[in-house]
Amino acid sequence: MRQKIVVGNWKMNGSFLETKELIQSIDSAIDGKIDCQIAVSVPFVYLNCAADLLKSSQIMLGAQNVSEHSKGAYTGEVSAQMLKDSQCDLVLVGHSERRQYFNETDEQLVKKVIQAQKNGLYVIFCIGETEQERVSDRAFEVIEQQLALLLDSADVDFGNIVIAYEPIWAIGTGLTASPEQAQEIHAFIRDVIKNKLSALAEKIQILYGGSVNEKNAELLFKQTDIDGGLVGGASLDAKAFTAICQQAK
Ligand code: PGA
Repeated sequence: MRQKIVVGNWKMNGSFLETKELIQSIDSAIDGKIDCQIAVSVPFVYLNCAADLLKSSQIMLGAQNVSEHSKGAYTGEVSAQMLKDSQCDLVLVGHSERRQYFNETDEQLVKKVIQAQKNGLYVIFCIGETEQERVSDRAFEVIEQQLALLLDSADVDFGNIVIAYEPIWAIGTGLTASPEQAQEIHAFIRDVIKNKLSALAEKIQILYGGSVNEKNAELLFKQTDIDGGLVGGASLDAKAFTAICQQAK
């Protein structure tokens, strides 16, 4: 049985004060009452503050990005070692906003995964098709392509990776994939992994992301191959996020 996991992705939102308040409200609402794994991915500059607040919490701490380099002259970048120093447990890699707006390539993303894992972080690796790709019947092909280099890498530890399927047309749009649409892709992702990694595929958690909210989470999380959610907008509201976590059983 795979445990469910719900990860909040705060993106570039909040202030120092709002971060403190949101962490405290989520933590006190959850208060050991929830069975799934929970994480919040906060902006870099608030990691230390969040880490202090989460010291004795079941909520894990995540970052939203990491450099593919270990150190050096890369102005503005943050290394995996630095994230570990800031008490991070995990990091998102390859979010569609990173792929689209910052042109992150599959090659770079695999390097990021390796850097993160080398430094003891576990990785949420994001994939997903655009609306154009879906309407032209290319969703499966695109997803297979986004997984190819990762699955071919001998340096990736598949015991410490979670895949997040986030159709780009569903992110921040209020348009969620139906549970059936999402399940179809999740089952496909597991098959693609199975072709390369055999039995390990059954152990890898695959999250759905894209306009998850307290109303649609339950049905999505009930699907056989959906092991939880990556939640953007709704994770900025402690009540909504907690309600989503409660549905991940
Ligand atoms: P959303 O974002 O829940 O606001 O659609 C999800 C994500 O981008 O991870």
